Amino acid sequence: MVRRILVTSGLPYANGHIHIGHLVEYIQTDVWVRFQRLIGNDVTFICGDDTHGTTMMLRARAEGRTEEEIIAEMHDAHLRDFNGFGIEFDYYGTTHSEENRQICTEIWGAFKKNGLIEEREIEQLYDTEAETFLADRFVKGTCPVCGKKDQFGDNCECGAHYEPTDLTDAVSTITGTKPVLRRAKHFFVNIEKEHKFLDEWVHSGALQPEIANYLTGQFLNDELRSWDVSRPAPYFGFEIPESSNDYWYVWFDAPSGYVASTMQWCKLSGRDFDKIWRNKETEVHHFIGKDITYFHTLFWPTMLKVAGLTLPKRVHVHGFLTVNGEKMAKRRGTFILAATFLKYLNPSYLRYFYATKTSGRVDDLDLNFSELESRVNSDLVGNLVNIASRTAKFVQKTGLSATYPDDGGLFENAARIGGEIAEAYENCDYGKAIRLVMECGDRANKFIENAAPWLLASDKNRAGELQDICTIGLNLFRQMAIYLLPVLPNLQSEVEGLLNSKISSWDDAGKPVVGVAVSQYKHLIKRVERAAIERIIEESKQPETVENKDKFNDSGDVLVAEPLLPDKISIDDFTKVDLRVARVLEASEVEGARKLLRLRLSFGGDESRQVFAGIKSVYKPEELVGRLVICVANLQPRQMKFGLSEGMVVAAGAGGDEIFLISPDNGAKPGMRLH
Ligand code: MSP
Ligand code: ZN
Repeated sequence: MVRRILVTSGLPYANGHIHIGHLVEYIQTDVWVRFQRLIGNDVTFICGDDTHGTTMMLRARAEGRTEEEIIAEMHDAHLRDFNGFGIEFDYYGTTHSEENRQICTEIWGAFKKNGLIEEREIEQLYDTEAETFLADRFVKGTCPVCGKKDQFGDNCECGAHYEPTDLTDAVSTITGTKPVLRRAKHFFVNIEKEHKFLDEWVHSGALQPEIANYLTGQFLNDELRSWDVSRPAPYFGFEIPESSNDYWYVWFDAPSGYVASTMQWCKLSGRDFDKIWRNKETEVHHFIGKDITYFHTLFWPTMLKVAGLTLPKRVHVHGFLTVNGEKMAKRRGTFILAATFLKYLNPSYLRYFYATKTSGRVDDLDLNFSELESRVNSDLVGNLVNIASRTAKFVQKTGLSATYPDDGGLFENAARIGGEIAEAYENCDYGKAIRLVMECGDRANKFIENAAPWLLASDKNRAGELQDICTIGLNLFRQMAIYLLPVLPNLQSEVEGLLNSKISSWDDAGKPVVGVAVSQYKHLIKRVERAAIERIIEESKQPETVENKDKFNDSGDVLVAEPLLPDKISIDDFTKVDLRVARVLEASEVEGARKLLRLRLSFGGDESRQVFAGIKSVYKPEELVGRLVICVANLQPRQMKFGLSEGMVVAAGAGGDEIFLISPDNGAKPGMRLH
């Protein structure tokens, strides 16, 4: 039976460019869509830009352009990046559309009719110069818990969470002025009224077990808090009907963008909208990152249910990308834009590498460039392509044998495994699918190794045997390529061209091709060049400034606080840093910490201090005891999960696992100050 499936990826914010973190999601979704299409399901892949909110409004003001101009420019840029990586949507829309206004109005009406909307006044910080209310991340001040300066409105580096109104000497990050408290009316959705429905839906099999557990533990075991869905003017978005001066909050009209974009696509393609969004038979699959889980698993299903729209069959949640073990960071050159990657490397490398790392679970995944290099070189070049490159040239004149020769069961065996590979794709366990395919490749390579066609080629009497061996090799190659098509779609036309036969579905992997002509072999995938990787990292290096920091979720829910590196500091700033020689008295591992060692340092007197250092990957505790290090002695103590850290040990490094502790020359004594 053909399944009718609607697939979406999270709508990227229109105010930032696509980067390799985003691509984790779009590649994962695209692979799934291509797989479904290959096995014959009726799939529609919808996405679009998420355009509304304060950030867009402020950017338009700052650039002296209209929001619409910026939206149009970013829409093009996003599509260009997606095309570059072979991510093919059926339709890529925008939340800034009449269709979206219409859908939002419908959902709003349904909420009102069901008595879910409440009106309440709340008090919020307001910037009188910018004339706007301030979301948490637009406020900075001194942490009310530890006293640290320059902390954001909702949490501090020390780990404390608080309300922006709790900050001492709060300032607006937009204008630098002191905000005032102001009251304003907001609309709330009482989602507690749908608690029973959410309990059921969350356990309906729509979610990964870890996500269902998280929602139960964090939200569903308690009364659900009403959701604040409006923002007073000025705001860039849709005005709420019959309530001028109030706008829907961006997270109200973002997921509705899935529906609105589908509507635009239906208008263009003549498809039936109701058959998708008002039909229980249609499977709706959302792919999202873990940071936006609760919008998609509490609010969104409530909106759909109340409005009578199709509920998601599955919400597939994935983890976050780290690069060489750390969060992407501009100053390390690991905040890599899609466009920068495309300039220097084949996008198939990233598609393939991400696929090997995709498990269908919520864990974060790491992009390690040496690993990418060795994966691509050994799997794609050394295994897959190797089969074709060692056989194709010998049958260019003759074509393939007229019947498929006896291969000892290799082809049939790999055809049988096709079911298991398909199941792995269905479950988003692409890593497993790829492992199974590469095992087929290992067996095929061994076969060719033993049959040694390059030896037969010089013996005229064994031409038939040579043709048979190459027929087997090229069929095993084609079979693997079909299994990999969801990940490496470019292979399709290349394999079709080489073997002069079309690939129309997954089932073709079970049918050998015979008697066809073989075209001239051209190298399919090149080895990864180290130098290209280095160029990408070089080009991505930028100092971290407030302006070019990764944008935040407009809701202010997720805060990505990278330490800022100012361009220049004065000598006075520098002399504030108390750098001292210290001796390591004790060193031990920290339970539950991947990178940290706990050190006890002495400055010579009776006093000793505990300092945590992220050097576990390079140093063993026992080799540190007794050695001299340099410590920042006047650092504000920092409460960590594992205890208080009262200083910082100085080391040099290139990021990742290259760390070199700095020690003074012979003769230095603990407690000496650096000048
Ligand atoms: N606009 C919202 C989504 C609205 S959906 C109705 C948003 N946009 S985003 O641009 O920040 O992210 C888009 C998608 O990419 C999200 O699903 C997000 O989780 C994912 N990722 C963004 N950065 C990521 C990584 N560094 N790693 C993995 N996924 C990442 O959120
Ligand atoms: Zn603090």
